[in-house]
Amino acid sequence: MDDHKVDSQKYVNLKITDEESVICSGIRDLQPSDEIGENKQPLLMDIPGSIASTLKMFKKFAFWSTQPMVQKDEYVTSNRCITPKRRAAEIRAEPYALPIGFMWVLVDLANNIELEELYKLLNENYVEDGRKLFRLDNQPDFLKWALKPPGWKSDWHVGVRVETTGQLVAFISAIPGKLRCYNKVIKVVDVNFMCVHKRLRGKRVAPILMREITRRVNLKGIFQAFFTAGVHLPTPVGSCRCWHRFLNPQKLVEVRYTPMSRNLTVQHALQLYSLPNETKTKGFRPIREEDMDQAHKLLEKYLTRFKLCPVFSKDEFSHWFTPKPGVIECFVVTDAKNQVTDLASYLCLPSTVIQHAKHKTISAANAFYNVATKTSWSDLLNDTMISARNNQMDVFNTLEQMEIKKHLATLKFVPGDGMQHYYLFNWRCPPMEPQHIALTPL
Ligand SMILES: CC(C)(COP(=O)(O)OP(=O)(O)OC[C@H]1O[C@@H](n2cnc3c(N)ncnc32)[C@H](O)[C@@H]1OP(=O)(O)O)[C@@H](O)C(=O)NCCC(=O)NCCS
Repeated sequence: MDDHKVDSQKYVNLKITDEESVICSGIRDLQPSDEIGENKQPLLMDIPGSIASTLKMFKKFAFWSTQPMVQKDEYVTSNRCITPKRRAAEIRAEPYALPIGFMWVLVDLANNIELEELYKLLNENYVEDGRKLFRLDNQPDFLKWALKPPGWKSDWHVGVRVETTGQLVAFISAIPGKLRCYNKVIKVVDVNFMCVHKRLRGKRVAPILMREITRRVNLKGIFQAFFTAGVHLPTPVGSCRCWHRFLNPQKLVEVRYTPMSRNLTVQHALQLYSLPNETKTKGFRPIREEDMDQAHKLLEKYLTRFKLCPVFSKDEFSHWFTPKPGVIECFVVTDAKNQVTDLASYLCLPSTVIQHAKHKTISAANAFYNVATKTSWSDLLNDTMISARNNQMDVFNTLEQMEIKKHLATLKFVPGDGMQHYYLFNWRCPPMEPQHIALTPL
């Protein structure tokens, strides 16, 4: 094993030190002309599992332990903020300092050149699976939709550029919304699309991004945030496993999304995962503008069953549930009296297949919000998957949350190895089981 690889990763995972000194030592190493590191495998993957998990238990969180989060081993019975609101005059007025040679910018998504720059940053550096075979490839239209819901603020589309070249090398965003947590409705921002160029990883740029977005959000009078991550930080309010239902098994095997076992050949897989050509539920169709009010009420009523859920205004509901090809698809079932009885939706999330001779991309349909009242859950989801397959999606994913668990086996979902951890920033509440969570990240 190459020595440099071990050292640099020790730095990321194991070096426990004062945060500011980490930032400073990172700055000295930073050269905008550095090669993109190929050897960024986490050290913990290189050592036996039992030792790795022991080391993780002892990991100290230089940044997160300083934040208003529920800390490890806290026993929580209340449902309230951790630190109180502050007046604008009490909030730091200037942006946090970046390493020398870098500057803060706003990314203007209405400007096609800037949108393309953001797309390129994410396309080359955003979330990868553990085996580094796939990388999320959120399309420009998806980014515009995800980052400009009602109430969006340009000040919360925050980028970092290299001063000399202007290259966009990091990004973080927030969008406003409301959540209900147990019996309280909280004004929050959803923090998403945090990305640091691979060349700048492990240099404590991410904590600066997170502090800066917090400052900007606080200045607008919001003190709570919601985010999800694949990494375990102190402390998730809940954690949901991701499940997959193959729609195009042949391609998924070819790109190594799923292995074939001895008992399951491609031929068997094609049979096992085949779906009818057409949907079967009478009245199942894409949602229309005139359905929005009824569909909004249907979802609102359904969400009252859960402990953590979004609270959508009418405008927000229309924004999130109006179909947009390649971004979001939404369906309703209507009865003979044109009443909306059921709702189904999925996000369109392609991923780049990294270094594959035949396939460049796979398309995932990620379940968004579904409500079955008159139609059975399995028929509703089966029809949604048929529509997704007819829309060229290769796999249908869902988080194990809400009521989905009891239908996963019948619908031929298989469990993934990834967990999505849910975090509330500056909010303390008891943890929740996945079936009590009804919040789907973008
Ligand atoms: C996530 C990412 C921005 C972190 O940057 P980095 O250079 O690896 O990490 P840094 O050295 O700057 O900062 C490390 C700190 O960020 C925290 N961190 C890492 N990933 C995080 C995440 N997804 N959410 C919140 N905090 C995270 C670490 O726990 C650490 O804090 P700690 O010392 O308290 O443990 C970067 O790895 C990246 O762009 N990854 C691909 C995109 C991605 O996964 N984005 C997050 C999903 S929205």
